[in-house]
Amino acid sequence: MSRPSYYLTTPIYYVTDRPHIGTTYTTIAADALARYKRLCGYDTHFLTGTDEHGLKVQRAAQERGVTPQAHADEVVGHYHTAWKQLNISHDDFIRTTEPRHERVVQAAFQKLLDAGHLHLGEYKGWYCVSCEAFLKETEDPSPKCPDCGRAAEWNSEATYFFRLSRFQEPLLAFYERNPGFVRPAYRFNEVRARVKEGLRDLSVTRTTLEWAVPLPFDPKHRSYVWIDALLNYASAVGYASDDALFARRWPADAHLVGKDILWFHAVIWPALLMALGVEPPKMVYAHGWWTHNGEKMSKSKNNFVRPEEVAAEYGVDALRYFLLRELPFGLDGDYRDASMRQRYNSELAGDFGNLVFRTLSMMDRYFGGVVPEPATEPAGPLAEASAGLYRDLEAAMSDLQYSKALDRIWEFVRRANQYVEERKPWQLNKDPNGREALGCVMYHLAEACRILGLAVAPVMPATAASIREQLGLPAEETRSLQEALAWGGMPWGGRVRRGEPLFPKKDG
Ligand code: MSP
Repeated sequence: MSRPSYYLTTPIYYVTDRPHIGTTYTTIAADALARYKRLCGYDTHFLTGTDEHGLKVQRAAQERGVTPQAHADEVVGHYHTAWKQLNISHDDFIRTTEPRHERVVQAAFQKLLDAGHLHLGEYKGWYCVSCEAFLKETEDPSPKCPDCGRAAEWNSEATYFFRLSRFQEPLLAFYERNPGFVRPAYRFNEVRARVKEGLRDLSVTRTTLEWAVPLPFDPKHRSYVWIDALLNYASAVGYASDDALFARRWPADAHLVGKDILWFHAVIWPALLMALGVEPPKMVYAHGWWTHNGEKMSKSKNNFVRPEEVAAEYGVDALRYFLLRELPFGLDGDYRDASMRQRYNSELAGDFGNLVFRTLSMMDRYFGGVVPEPATEPAGPLAEASAGLYRDLEAAMSDLQYSKALDRIWEFVRRANQYVEERKPWQLNKDPNGREALGCVMYHLAEACRILGLAVAPVMPATAASIREQLGLPAEETRSLQEALAWGGMPWGGRVRRGEPLFPKKDG
């Protein structure tokens, strides 16, 4: 039987900035989910990419005196470099300027026209270039964008409207049938309430914009950047180009997005898909926003937390760990170096790294590095503590509750450290009759480390690989996570190779 597909995506990022902690957050969260699903045996497809058209990018290029394409080609490099450094395991990276995507945007517009979902009219209203979004009607003569606070621009031009208003009822019915469509639930309620208030047709083309995909049936008009952007999720998996592939991957299982762009994903995107006769995605998960030392991050304040700087100080895995552990996925959070340092020292260096280091050190000291057979006690308190681990991880990860999954793993880490204190291997070692008991204790600790090496792999892949290497295990686990997490999988008789501490303590 073929493995089930799991298709997940990040937003595609504007090529106006290098990656910062916000864009990094979505990408790391998606990566942890992709890695988790792969371990569970899914045929996983993880897509990320860049959003390269639109006024915002056009102006960024103009300011630098280069063409938008040259600008995009340069900035996209920062994303490739960052994702490589952060160990992001995407299967595909789409750029909206690629022909494979532009063709699909044109095909989709043609279909919308043919099916009667577009009508020509005139748009008059306010536009926020930074958010690439239309503002609600207002009496204010110089309104500011409610999302980003920047001054809006007046727009008046001929446009094709997408008949979004027709989709109010179909959307509400779809939400009713799919109560897990938007997560967390309280954000779904907000979306539903707004849709109930009514939907206005959406201007989806512009005549004054140069840097965008031209419409096949009316080349004076070019695509509104958000329609172009949303279609990336479909064009990357064969929509309108490879029906077999599209049938395999679609509907997407999870779109991970920030709360600021939920409306586009939870309302416009499913409506557009319905208009094209395509099923909406299964889930859209909106995460919260990070501030930095209590302040919103912005170019003007120049206070972005840069992932490469945190990684240089603490390591890539510690950054990945911190972002996913610090707050429940969905809520807003504040990045503070003091919290990073605190978690690093106490949870990574203290609890986790110390357990692995002392286990391997004792294995060397007491057994010459060869894992003993747990002859008299094949199971024990650590077997018990690990018993529901898979079930708990699955429950947390199926709702993208990374912090819950990590809390559960750390419960096990702490239990294992406590076990060391209870059984005192150093005393057993002095006891002439303690050899067998010592062998059991050391086997159990090695087994606990093996289990941890699997459990943390989605969040801390390099650490997990190092643990497997130190334990003398093959790099790849071939069994599914559920099977591999069952107690007793550590072979005995093999040699361990103690490495350097995984997370050396930081002073101060
Ligand atoms: N190009 C659009 C997305 C199109 S998807 C079809 C876009 N790009 S973006 O580069 O501006 O932002 C991408 C993501 O980064 C969004 O999900 C946004 O929520 C996230 N973040 C940007 N700043 C953030 C924080 N400070 N904190 C958390 N996430 C934030 O929007």
